[in-house]
Amino acid sequence: MRAARGNPQLDEHGALQHLLTIEGLSADILQHILDTAASFVDVAERDVKKLPLLRGKAVFNLFFEPSTRTRTTFEIAAKRLSADVVNLNVGVSSTSKGETLLDTIANLSAMHADMFVVRHSASGAPHLIARHVAPGIHVVNAGDGRHAHPTQGLLDVYTIRHYKGGFNNLRVAIVGDILHSRVARSEIHALTTLGVPELRVIGPKTLLPSHVENLGVRVFHDMRAGLKDVDVIMMLRLQNERMNGALLPSAQEFFFNYGLTPDKLALAKPDAIVMHPGPMNRGVEIDSAVADGRQSVILPQVTFGIAVRMAVMSILAGN
Ligand code: CP
Repeated sequence: MRAARGNPQLDEHGALQHLLTIEGLSADILQHILDTAASFVDVAERDVKKLPLLRGKAVFNLFFEPSTRTRTTFEIAAKRLSADVVNLNVGVSSTSKGETLLDTIANLSAMHADMFVVRHSASGAPHLIARHVAPGIHVVNAGDGRHAHPTQGLLDVYTIRHYKGGFNNLRVAIVGDILHSRVARSEIHALTTLGVPELRVIGPKTLLPSHVENLGVRVFHDMRAGLKDVDVIMMLRLQNERMNGALLPSAQEFFFNYGLTPDKLALAKPDAIVMHPGPMNRGVEIDSAVADGRQSVILPQVTFGIAVRMAVMSILAGN
């Protein structure tokens, strides 16, 4: 299938063939994924938690970076769709003997892979793979460097839609290390595409990308001012593994200024929800009283991730 001009994720008819980034996807495509996910949520309640939509298909999970939530929920999602799932153990794979990424992909393709779910420290690695796989093989980005984490962005907007009923009239704040966060980038693209009227980013200057306001967000360096009257708070982890040098005086000072505590949460609307993609660093970006509190929807985010990933895989497979 030939790609649509300018967007390697879409085929010539505008259908999704890979999910590499939310950037450039229409609101219709995003809503279609969310609606499809909604139709899968109750599969988990059934006696037999299976649908036959990927029966006979082979899904390869290739995680070149650590993961708990994304890798596991992709595996559960693929199994609920009846796919055969292979989790490549990268640590003991021939990558350690010098095999290139594309040679690994070529060899797994020779085993009749139908879909690759890829996490990699290099931004653009899933795009590179998508350019080289044979037609009919689909690539899903499960997080690449600082660039994108599209299924996390999708499960986050699914969670917001679930709790807030839609995206109109919402004030959403994303807080913390925006600079190194692929999650933040995907969330910003999803929320602006879906028409959230006010999107705020809150963080110290050292942890915000330059010209971030060009993405259609309001910038706050004072967390208390930025949280005032928001409906949704999305907290982010400090991505220490992607920082080159000290960008912060200390974790304690970061928590004082940008950690979500009950008193800061009280500045948001009384029914505001608190989200976090995980893994959380308690006492660094979020207080346990908030993480485990009544406004936290952090664990439901994980649960919804299964249905969202089922939706993405089934749509890619042509269902
Ligand atoms: N949110 C997220 O990507 O978590 P994992 O790193 O555990 O997959």
